[in-house]
Amino acid sequence: MIIAIDGPAASGKGTLARRLAAHFGLRHLDTGLTYRAVAAALLARGLPLGDEAVAIATARNLDLTRLDRDVLSAHEIGEAASRIAVLPGLRRELVALQKRFAEQPPGAVLDGRDIGTVVCPDATVKLFCTASPEVRARRRTAELQSKGGEAAYDKVLDDLRRRDARDAGRDVAPLKPADDAHLLDTSEMDIETAFKAAVDIVDGVRAD
Ligand code: C5P
Repeated sequence: MIIAIDGPAASGKGTLARRLAAHFGLRHLDTGLTYRAVAAALLARGLPLGDEAVAIATARNLDLTRLDRDVLSAHEIGEAASRIAVLPGLRRELVALQKRFAEQPPGAVLDGRDIGTVVCPDATVKLFCTASPEVRARRRTAELQSKGGEAAYDKVLDDLRRRDARDAGRDVAPLKPADDAHLLDTSEMDIETAFKAAVDIVDGVRAD
Protein backbone atom coordinates (compact mmCIF):
# COMPACT_ATOMS: atom_id res chain seq x y z
CA MET A 1 0.00 0.00 0.00
CA ILE A 2 1.26 3.47 -0.88
CA ILE A 3 -0.32 6.58 0.61
CA ALA A 4 0.54 9.84 -1.16
CA ILE A 5 0.03 13.08 0.77
CA ASP A 6 0.54 16.46 -0.85
CA GLY A 7 -0.15 20.00 0.22
CA PRO A 8 1.40 23.38 0.93
CA ALA A 9 3.72 24.19 3.85
CA ALA A 10 2.15 23.87 7.31
CA SER A 11 -1.03 22.25 5.97
CA GLY A 12 -0.62 19.43 8.50
CA LYS A 13 0.54 16.87 5.93
CA GLY A 14 3.77 15.97 7.77
CA THR A 15 2.08 15.12 11.06
CA LEU A 16 -0.67 13.25 9.24
CA ALA A 17 1.87 11.28 7.21
CA ARG A 18 3.78 10.21 10.34
CA ARG A 19 0.60 9.17 12.14
CA LEU A 20 -0.83 7.30 9.16
CA ALA A 21 2.47 5.42 8.70
CA ALA A 22 2.42 4.34 12.37
CA HIS A 23 -1.27 3.39 12.19
CA PHE A 24 -0.97 1.26 9.03
CA GLY A 25 2.52 -0.14 9.78
CA LEU A 26 4.14 1.54 6.76
CA ARG A 27 7.48 3.29 6.26
CA HIS A 28 7.45 7.07 5.95
CA LEU A 29 9.39 9.55 3.81
CA ASP A 30 9.03 13.30 4.15
CA THR A 31 10.22 14.20 0.64
CA GLY A 32 10.63 17.87 1.60
CA LEU A 33 13.64 16.73 3.62
CA THR A 34 15.35 15.44 0.48
CA TYR A 35 15.15 18.92 -1.11
CA ARG A 36 16.17 20.49 2.21
CA ALA A 37 19.19 18.18 2.59
CA VAL A 38 20.52 19.12 -0.86
CA ALA A 39 19.90 22.82 -0.16
CA ALA A 40 21.65 22.58 3.23
CA ALA A 41 24.70 20.94 1.63
CA LEU A 42 24.95 23.73 -0.98
CA LEU A 43 24.52 26.45 1.67
CA ALA A 44 27.12 24.84 3.95
CA ARG A 45 29.68 24.87 1.13
CA GLY A 46 28.79 28.40 0.01
CA LEU A 47 27.82 27.11 -3.46
CA PRO A 48 25.29 28.90 -5.69
CA LEU A 49 21.76 27.47 -5.47
CA GLY A 50 21.49 27.49 -9.27
CA ASP A 51 24.40 25.06 -9.76
CA GLU A 52 22.42 22.06 -10.96
CA ALA A 53 25.40 19.74 -11.54
CA VAL A 54 26.53 20.07 -7.90
CA ALA A 55 22.93 19.73 -6.69
CA ILE A 56 22.54 16.49 -8.68
CA ALA A 57 25.85 15.09 -7.38
CA THR A 58 24.74 15.90 -3.82
CA ALA A 59 21.38 14.21 -4.41
CA ARG A 60 23.12 11.03 -5.64
CA ASN A 61 24.92 10.74 -2.31
CA LEU A 62 21.86 11.30 -0.12
CA ASP A 63 21.31 8.76 2.63
CA LEU A 64 17.57 8.66 3.33
CA THR A 65 18.16 7.12 6.77
CA ARG A 66 20.08 10.19 7.92
CA LEU A 67 17.60 12.97 7.12
CA ASP A 68 17.02 14.93 10.33
CA ARG A 69 14.03 17.28 10.43
CA ASP A 70 15.40 19.09 13.51
CA VAL A 71 18.62 20.00 11.71
CA LEU A 72 16.93 20.72 8.35
CA SER A 73 13.90 22.65 9.62
CA ALA A 74 15.66 26.05 9.65
CA HIS A 75 13.72 28.71 7.79
CA GLU A 76 16.57 29.62 5.39
CA ILE A 77 16.98 25.95 4.44
CA GLY A 78 13.26 25.78 3.53
CA GLU A 79 13.60 28.91 1.37
CA ALA A 80 16.70 27.52 -0.36
CA ALA A 81 14.95 24.14 -0.84
CA SER A 82 12.06 25.80 -2.64
CA ARG A 83 14.54 27.66 -4.90
CA ILE A 84 16.45 24.53 -5.95
CA ALA A 85 13.19 22.58 -6.33
CA VAL A 86 12.68 24.29 -9.72
CA LEU A 87 15.75 22.52 -11.21
CA PRO A 88 14.40 19.73 -13.49
CA GLY A 89 17.52 17.52 -13.39
CA LEU A 90 17.66 17.66 -9.60
CA ARG A 91 13.97 16.75 -9.41
CA ARG A 92 14.53 13.74 -11.69
CA GLU A 93 17.27 12.50 -9.36
CA LEU A 94 15.27 12.97 -6.16
CA VAL A 95 12.06 11.56 -7.66
CA ALA A 96 13.95 8.36 -8.67
CA LEU A 97 15.22 8.02 -5.09
CA GLN A 98 11.72 8.61 -3.68
CA LYS A 99 10.14 6.07 -6.07
CA ARG A 100 12.65 3.42 -4.98
CA PHE A 101 11.76 4.11 -1.34
CA ALA A 102 8.02 3.84 -2.07
CA GLU A 103 8.31 0.54 -3.92
CA GLN A 104 9.94 -1.43 -1.11
CA PRO A 105 7.60 -3.70 0.86
CA PRO A 106 5.37 -3.36 2.82
CA GLY A 107 4.70 0.04 1.23
CA ALA A 108 5.00 3.57 2.47
CA VAL A 109 3.52 6.95 3.19
CA LEU A 110 5.22 9.76 1.27
CA ASP A 111 4.43 13.42 1.77
CA GLY A 112 5.43 16.36 -0.39
CA ARG A 113 4.17 18.48 -3.27
CA ASP A 114 4.14 16.10 -6.25
CA ILE A 115 3.68 12.63 -4.74
CA GLY A 116 0.22 11.93 -6.20
CA THR A 117 1.03 13.59 -9.54
CA VAL A 118 4.63 12.51 -10.28
CA VAL A 119 6.35 10.29 -7.69
CA CYS A 120 3.55 7.77 -7.05
CA PRO A 121 0.83 8.35 -9.68
CA ASP A 122 -0.51 4.83 -8.94
CA ALA A 123 -0.64 5.28 -5.13
CA THR A 124 -3.37 3.31 -3.37
CA VAL A 125 -4.72 6.49 -1.78
CA LYS A 126 -3.97 10.15 -2.49
CA LEU A 127 -4.69 12.91 -0.03
CA PHE A 128 -4.31 16.63 -0.67
CA CYS A 129 -4.18 18.63 2.55
CA THR A 130 -5.07 22.28 2.56
CA ALA A 131 -5.72 24.96 5.14
CA SER A 132 -6.13 28.71 4.77
CA PRO A 133 -2.86 30.71 4.66
CA GLU A 134 -3.84 32.44 7.93
CA VAL A 135 -4.37 29.14 9.78
CA ARG A 136 -1.12 27.75 8.40
CA ALA A 137 0.77 30.90 9.41
CA ARG A 138 -0.67 30.68 12.95
CA ARG A 139 0.41 27.03 13.22
CA ARG A 140 3.90 27.70 11.87
CA THR A 141 4.38 30.75 14.17
CA ALA A 142 3.37 28.71 17.23
CA GLU A 143 5.65 25.84 16.17
CA LEU A 144 8.66 28.14 15.71
CA GLN A 145 8.00 29.89 19.03
CA SER A 146 7.62 26.58 20.88
CA LYS A 147 11.13 25.69 19.70
CA GLY A 148 12.42 28.90 21.29
CA GLY A 149 12.75 30.74 17.98
CA GLU A 150 11.53 34.25 17.22
CA ALA A 151 8.61 34.33 14.83
CA ALA A 152 6.37 37.23 13.83
CA TYR A 153 3.00 36.13 12.43
CA ASP A 154 2.98 38.72 9.60
CA LYS A 155 6.40 37.69 8.36
CA VAL A 156 5.55 33.98 8.56
CA LEU A 157 2.35 34.64 6.56
CA ASP A 158 4.29 36.59 3.90
CA ASP A 159 6.89 33.82 3.64
CA LEU A 160 4.23 31.10 3.30
CA ARG A 161 2.45 33.04 0.55
CA ARG A 162 5.71 33.53 -1.33
CA ARG A 163 6.64 29.86 -1.03
CA ASP A 164 3.11 28.76 -2.10
CA ALA A 165 3.37 30.98 -5.19
CA ARG A 166 6.81 29.57 -6.08
CA ASP A 167 5.75 25.94 -5.50
CA ALA A 168 2.44 26.26 -7.37
CA GLY A 169 3.76 28.47 -10.17
CA ARG A 170 6.83 26.52 -11.28
CA ASP A 171 6.89 24.71 -14.62
CA VAL A 172 8.09 21.31 -13.34
CA ALA A 173 5.84 19.33 -10.99
CA PRO A 174 3.92 22.31 -9.57
CA LEU A 175 1.99 21.91 -6.33
CA LYS A 176 -1.52 20.81 -7.32
CA PRO A 177 -3.94 18.03 -6.36
CA ALA A 178 -3.94 14.90 -8.54
CA ASP A 179 -7.29 14.42 -10.31
CA ASP A 180 -8.03 11.43 -8.08
CA ALA A 181 -6.84 13.00 -4.78
CA HIS A 182 -9.13 13.28 -1.77
CA LEU A 183 -9.12 16.86 -0.51
CA LEU A 184 -8.74 17.36 3.23
CA ASP A 185 -9.17 20.94 4.41
CA THR A 186 -7.73 21.02 7.93
CA SER A 187 -8.45 24.74 8.59
CA GLU A 188 -11.12 23.92 11.18
CA MET A 189 -9.61 20.64 12.42
CA ASP A 190 -7.21 19.80 15.21
CA ILE A 191 -4.69 17.07 14.42
CA GLU A 192 -6.76 14.31 16.02
CA THR A 193 -9.81 15.19 13.90
CA ALA A 194 -7.68 15.44 10.75
CA PHE A 195 -6.07 12.07 11.51
CA LYS A 196 -9.46 10.36 11.97
CA ALA A 197 -10.74 11.91 8.74
CA ALA A 198 -7.65 10.67 6.87
CA VAL A 199 -7.97 7.13 8.31
CA ASP A 200 -11.64 7.10 7.23
CA ILE A 201 -10.64 8.09 3.68
CA VAL A 202 -7.93 5.38 3.52
CA ASP A 203 -10.24 2.70 4.97
CA GLY A 204 -12.98 3.77 2.55
CA VAL A 205 -10.70 3.42 -0.47
CA ARG A 206 -9.40 0.01 0.67
CA ALA A 207 -12.94 -1.29 1.26
CA ASP A 208 -13.94 -0.45 -2.34
O1 C5P B 1 7.75 20.45 2.81
P1 C5P B 1 8.97 21.28 3.03
O2 C5P B 1 8.70 22.66 3.52
O3 C5P B 1 10.00 20.61 3.87
O4 C5P B 1 9.63 21.42 1.57
C1 C5P B 1 10.63 22.36 1.28
C2 C5P B 1 10.52 22.74 -0.20
O5 C5P B 1 10.91 21.62 -1.00
C3 C5P B 1 9.13 23.11 -0.68
O6 C5P B 1 8.84 24.49 -0.53
C4 C5P B 1 9.14 22.71 -2.14
O7 C5P B 1 9.63 23.76 -2.95
C5 C5P B 1 10.15 21.58 -2.21
N1 C5P B 1 9.48 20.28 -2.36
C6 C5P B 1 9.12 19.89 -3.64
N2 C5P B 1 8.57 18.66 -3.84
C7 C5P B 1 8.36 17.82 -2.82
C8 C5P B 1 8.69 18.22 -1.49
C9 C5P B 1 9.24 19.47 -1.30
O8 C5P B 1 9.29 20.65 -4.59
N3 C5P B 1 7.86 16.61 -3.07
